[in-house]
Amino acid sequence: MPDVETQPAIDLDAIDTEDAAAEAAARLREALQYHNYRYYVLDDPVVSDAEYDRMLDQLQTLEEAYPDVRTPDSPTQRVGGAPRDELGTVRHPAPMRSLKSAYAEEDVRAFDETCRTELDVERVEYTAEPKFDGLAVELVYEDGQLVQAATRGDGRTGEDITANMKTIEEVPLRLRTEKRSAPERLVVRGEAYMRKDEFNAFNRERVEAGEDPFANPRNAAAGSLRQLDPSVTAERPLHIYFYEVAPGEDRDFDTHADALAALPEWGLRVCETHVHRCDGIDDALAHHADLEAQRDDLPYEIDGVVIKVNDLAAHDTLGVRQRDPRWAIAYKFAPRQATTTIDDIIVQVGRTGRITPVAKLEPVEIGGVEVSRASLHNQNEIDQKDIRIGDTVLVERAGDVIPYVVKAIPDARDGSEAAYHIPDACPVCGAEVVLSDDKKQAFCTGGMTCPAQLRGRLTHYASREGMNIEGLGEKRAAQLIDAGLIECISDLYALEKDDLLELERFADTSAQNLLDEIAASLEQDLDRFLYALGIPLVGAHGARLLATHLGDLDAIMAAREEELQAIGDIGPEGAHSIVAFFDEPANREVIAAIRAAGLTLTNPYRESEQPLEGLTFVFTGQLEEWTRDEVQRLVERLGGRATSSVSGETDYVVAGPGAGQKRDDAAAHDVPVLDEAAFKALLDERG
Ligand code: IVH
Repeated sequence: MPDVETQPAIDLDAIDTEDAAAEAAARLREALQYHNYRYYVLDDPVVSDAEYDRMLDQLQTLEEAYPDVRTPDSPTQRVGGAPRDELGTVRHPAPMRSLKSAYAEEDVRAFDETCRTELDVERVEYTAEPKFDGLAVELVYEDGQLVQAATRGDGRTGEDITANMKTIEEVPLRLRTEKRSAPERLVVRGEAYMRKDEFNAFNRERVEAGEDPFANPRNAAAGSLRQLDPSVTAERPLHIYFYEVAPGEDRDFDTHADALAALPEWGLRVCETHVHRCDGIDDALAHHADLEAQRDDLPYEIDGVVIKVNDLAAHDTLGVRQRDPRWAIAYKFAPRQATTTIDDIIVQVGRTGRITPVAKLEPVEIGGVEVSRASLHNQNEIDQKDIRIGDTVLVERAGDVIPYVVKAIPDARDGSEAAYHIPDACPVCGAEVVLSDDKKQAFCTGGMTCPAQLRGRLTHYASREGMNIEGLGEKRAAQLIDAGLIECISDLYALEKDDLLELERFADTSAQNLLDEIAASLEQDLDRFLYALGIPLVGAHGARLLATHLGDLDAIMAAREEELQAIGDIGPEGAHSIVAFFDEPANREVIAAIRAAGLTLTNPYRESEQPLEGLTFVFTGQLEEWTRDEVQRLVERLGGRATSSVSGETDYVVAGPGAGQKRDDAAAHDVPVLDEAAFKALLDERG
């Protein structure tokens, strides 16, 4: 971190000379430039938007009062930060501006007052729409074809993300023209984002793979789109809402609402349910209150409401002030951040033995929810942010996203704070804890016998994708463990009916059903059994790869790292994890006991029967015979690949009723489209 104050405390009322103003402006500029860099270049901000805006506002006020202190490189003179040069830059057809933020109703009323005065009307018609919290993007269509996509960058030039943008399924490569013809050139802007649930799942996977988690969905979306390799972007769950047609030479629309109504006709996604036309500012304020109340229930993050003058001719009248248009304002919601102190740091032991540090916080209310814990992710994160027990910290809670510590506030320290290190021994079973060299991963080596892992491992073992033991969910698993009936997974197969009948919520039939399910699970597919074992870094796909390439359990248990890595798609860390798992005596004993109970494995992925080898499929719409998951498993079992987005690599798109964009994508890539009957015919022909 450079030697700048991240939040210079400046009392504007105390500034009464040009010199003092120049000095304060320089401090603000330096801090703002630093935060811009963290936000735009590193995707890793350390202050909240509100704090940033406050500093920018102060600078703007100073520059207005003392125009001579303004410098050409002042952050008030441009829209954003420097684009990353690796991606290549493109010029925006028209500047991409930002929005002025308001945090209080009176600021919004002042905005309305200005609009009414300047437009000389009693009441202004506005639109009020969600302020999506993602990454601003601009797409250019020429003769209906997508020719360019860019980030905002500094507002005049942005980064070229055309290849990355094309991987988002919701982005049409060609505009639809059934209802409305495509103009020669259309420049549209919108927000690319990640849904909260997809963000949580994606982050979980990253942590499990030993990668750094993203702080929030916005950073995840930005990081995903600014990849140099589009195939990485293609794997990320990204979405887009369009919210603006850029001002062009000739105006095709009279109002902003008309422009938004036209976008879906071209196939461009608009958040129709939450865009409201408002008769006067009171309506817009009501919509703001309404959306704020719904904020937690929305599947994506929003951080305010954008209020725009609806009449586009009025935009010209109102014009632009410095970096922001005067015809719009972003009315932000109450911040989702708060400061509190860390009382202690504890560790959690996960299903696979992963050890995660968690901060126990002095409880604090953030956006109506009491927060008393925050994830610290890993030791590396704690070291990087220099987080200590006893520290005052800034905590953010975003929707259903797990609260996290944004940063420590070193100024608040009194010397009693203590640095933290993950313990050497598992707090639950006492086995050694191993920490990876980069300090991003810590594991308990207690294997399948650590009690902390048992509940999670048992639930995972019995899950639908695993051994599929119906009736053995998390509660039942806990009940069996707490009653002392199960100390390791193989004990499942020694359960007797009388044991179960002594437990609550078990009657004769339910006990028998569970025992039948458990017995039936012994006849199993090899890949499901492998998945059920919960080998760190091995998911369902990894398990299928092992089954396909190595054939049987003994070969897999005996495989060495080089052999595993030769499979492709299994990296060095995955290979190491597999070998370590099967080398652990406790794990071998559990597997031997399950085998002794009668485990019979069949391998549906044997390499010999691979009629679909080399073919890549994309499925869209509903199929009658299979669910999406089933048909994807079928294709993989027959040696093919099933992917989620259409590209030049795709051999067939299989479309059922309700198929959407992917059918169009197929046309754009010249990929043949099969219906379900044709797909079956292909299977028959090859099988
Ligand atoms: S309109 C002239 N509408 O907010 C500015 N922006 O500071 C035109 N944003 O990062 C922007 N939701 O990407 C507009 N419904 C919405 C928006 C929105 C989110 C973002 C935008 C930019 C920032 C503007």
